[in-house]
Amino acid sequence: MTTIRTPRLILRPMTDADATAYVAMRFHPGVLAWLPPAPGEPLERARETIAAFAEAWRTRGYAPWGAFERLPEAGGGDREGRLVGHVGLRFLPEFDGTEILYAFLPETQGTGLAREAAEAALDFGFRTLHLPAIFAITLATNQRSWGLMRRLGMSRGPDTRFKGFDVVRYDLDAPTWRARTNRERAAT
Ligand SMILES: CC(C)(COP(=O)(O)OP(=O)(O)OC[C@H]1O[C@@H](n2cnc3c(N)ncnc32)[C@H](O)[C@@H]1OP(=O)(O)O)[C@@H](O)C(=O)NCCC(=O)NCCS
Repeated sequence: MTTIRTPRLILRPMTDADATAYVAMRFHPGVLAWLPPAPGEPLERARETIAAFAEAWRTRGYAPWGAFERLPEAGGGDREGRLVGHVGLRFLPEFDGTEILYAFLPETQGTGLAREAAEAALDFGFRTLHLPAIFAITLATNQRSWGLMRRLGMSRGPDTRFKGFDVVRYDLDAPTWRARTNRERAAT
């Protein structure tokens, strides 16, 4: 299992102890409205999701992380703050491929945190896991989500269906990611 630090976030696999905080994010009305329906008791569903992610970490070597605020400490260290989102990579058998997913508490949106986390997830997927390609899907009406896909350098693919919904698909391959990030690293 892998933990990653970005300038403002700690991305780490969640445990059962995170379930209550995860409910507050995942079942926030401003988040829930954009994700597939999750019927049932939220805490129970959150615990199931966390367990499924943990299983994917064990068997596949990747799964979504919880995104926690990274709080600087005197002396140069840091500590973990509250859970503000989830982000990461998930293998979807329906597509025989790996998607990037993300969701953040509404009060943290519009601050670039989702992009910061998603870029770390893509870098992990392409440079550490050596995945050939990563895709993303969202409702066509979810402009914030497909806007982020475009900012990440993903290209619009064929529209498709997921869990009974019409969705738009965006794709990114490893050579495209490497070329873009190599250019950016050379420029800094
Ligand atoms: C989809 C989602 C993650 C996108 O989050 P986001 O905050 O819009 O995305 P970003 O992190 O790229 O932030 C971009 C905004 O932050 C601003 N910003 C502020 N500081 C910034 C910084 N330091 N760096 C980058 N952008 C910054 C940008 O200008 C931009 O503002 P704008 O939206 O007014 O143009 C978020 O809307 C969400 O969680 N939605 C609910 C769940 C959901 O839909 N998930 C996806 C399901 S498919």
